[in-house]
Amino acid sequence: MQTVEIPLGQRSYRVDIGAKLLESPEHWLDCVGGGLILVVSNERVAPLYLHRVLDCLPKDRAHSLILPDGEQHKTVSSWRRIVNELVSMKANRDACLIALGGGVIGDLGGFAAATYMRGIRFVQAPTTLLAQVDASVGGKTGVNHAHGKNLIGAFHQPTRVLADTATLDTLEDREYRAGIAEVIKYGMIRDADFFDWIENHAGAISQRDPQTLLTMVRQSVENKAAVVAEDELETHTRALLNYGHSFGHALETLTRYEHYLHGEAVAIGMVIAARLSEQRGRLAPGVADRLQSVLNRFGLPTRFHEAIKPNAILDAMTLDKKNVSGKLRLVLLRGLGEAYIDQDCSREQVLEAVRSCREA
Ligand code: NAD
Ligand code: GLY
Repeated sequence: MQTVEIPLGQRSYRVDIGAKLLESPEHWLDCVGGGLILVVSNERVAPLYLHRVLDCLPKDRAHSLILPDGEQHKTVSSWRRIVNELVSMKANRDACLIALGGGVIGDLGGFAAATYMRGIRFVQAPTTLLAQVDASVGGKTGVNHAHGKNLIGAFHQPTRVLADTATLDTLEDREYRAGIAEVIKYGMIRDADFFDWIENHAGAISQRDPQTLLTMVRQSVENKAAVVAEDELETHTRALLNYGHSFGHALETLTRYEHYLHGEAVAIGMVIAARLSEQRGRLAPGVADRLQSVLNRFGLPTRFHEAIKPNAILDAMTLDKKNVSGKLRLVLLRGLGEAYIDQDCSREQVLEAVRSCREA
């Protein structure tokens, strides 16, 4: 097992990473506290892993709730179901909520834990690559609103993250590859050595080699930990984690979340942002090609569908909540492993970079 500390003063916690962690009672008993326990999962993950978790927990204190699978269920009504369950269990402030699943269950369970009785103990048990390397760490929780993704939410740090890398074995190939985009993101924004490592281990990563998975998740979490420790509430540097995301969100919105997985849209967005950085003379030529080539090795898209209009991407980005005073706020690169926030791009410059990544 490997451990990464998230140093946040009184809200500090550990991310434990290893194969079969979920099946080991000592890992659970060390973090669930002495109150009632509610394990929240979904219809896809529960048949695979819920019984293994329940077998490790005290029978007289553990309950479970299985929600339908999918981003469309990351809603206030699912949040209400979790809170109703906690009420009917007669859970007190010493209760613990365990989120067993991908980022959807993690965000939803985390938001219920943040709001029930103004905050209860919360353990993240992420089972997708994206959730292990990103969503489970850093305390962002929330649900979607009809008018936007993650519009309702709270910062609520978990007490522990148990990232069982063996659960990644059952993940669909497309979901696994989408998670790799977020791994590559850490290399691009702050860790050039990690980017080299990813390039050099592409074969083992694709094959989900257990030791390689462990190293990949640990290095990703170390990167995220450093960013979150510096800026827990995203007042400045945490925004660098959004590299590729402004373009990615626009692509997801324009295709109604039906065409691209989040990581796929981010992969295209990262290439657009790298091309823009090069066009503006901030980044040495060649980095965008290198990024594109590593993403392609993992079967990730690097150009968006020709049916999507470049101007529509710009329009969707103009509505992004991360913009300030009508100016596009973009994460760009001044080197591989060196991201910065740019607020000076003209619409024409951005359009040029977007156009260069449209399918021919
Ligand atoms: P997801 O939770 O929908 O999981 C993807 C699919 O894989 C689902 O069908 C799920 O049931 C299934 N699955 C999960 N674990 C599995 C396993 N081990 N084996 C087989 N199938 C499994 O999606 P995701 O990509 O994990 O997360 C996306 C969500 O995370 C979005 O809602 C996004 O907003 C959120 N997110 C949050 C943060 C944050 O900081 N809080 C960061 C990034 C993303
Ligand atoms: N996934 C972006 C963040 O945690 O800030």
